[in-house]
Amino acid sequence: MKPDVLVETGVAHGGSLIFYASLFEAMGKGRVVGVDIEIRPHNRQAIEAHPMKKRIDLIEGSSTAPEVLAQVKALIKPGETVLVVLDSNHTKAHVLDELRAYGDLIGVGSYVVATDGIMAQVKGAPRTGEDWDWNNPLTAIHDFVAEDKRFIVEEPTFPFNEGVVTGRVTYWPDAFVKRIA
Ligand SMILES: C[S@@+](CC[C@H](N)C(=O)[O-])C[C@H]1O[C@@H](n2cnc3c(N)ncnc32)[C@H](O)[C@@H]1O
Repeated sequence: MKPDVLVETGVAHGGSLIFYASLFEAMGKGRVVGVDIEIRPHNRQAIEAHPMKKRIDLIEGSSTAPEVLAQVKALIKPGETVLVVLDSNHTKAHVLDELRAYGDLIGVGSYVVATDGIMAQVKGAPRTGEDWDWNNPLTAIHDFVAEDKRFIVEEPTFPFNEGVVTGRVTYWPDAFVKRIA
């Protein structure tokens, strides 16, 4: 897609923000907007000191709060292509709210990528929750595309595949929510 703006909810240490910003640097265009309910001072300092900071804006607040959404929207110029990655609170309720809010930010043909839908499959492993079989991003994704027909789950095709594995091996099953109308 080579978007103009990538919005990511969930910043933590900023690893993925820096990664996306560095891809934009290689492309010679693009900006990243990172949203987190709590940007810890040492993480903010490290992100702000990084050479890729020139391509990054940080917003502190809950990703679904109206004032946060207004700040995100204000950073997007008319006509810009936007891609969204959801990697904040992975409860079903929060991801569903995020899909409803951020789905309106993207244009037809773009995606909201809801990460970490693998949770149901790893329930029972150390540090997992008893409710992970239903309380996860994947159930939110499925409910969202059922309620809003402007969106479908459609993974981008592989640019090439020289192996025998044809499906995606991923922590993010059905993550690519594409806007089709
Ligand atoms: C999985 S980490 C993000 C990791 C980051 N995307 C990376 O790969 O480098 C999740 C982050 O979501 C944040 N978070 C939790 N609830 C949130 C909310 N309601 N709105 C925004 N961020 C939230 C947490 O503070 C935490 O930093």
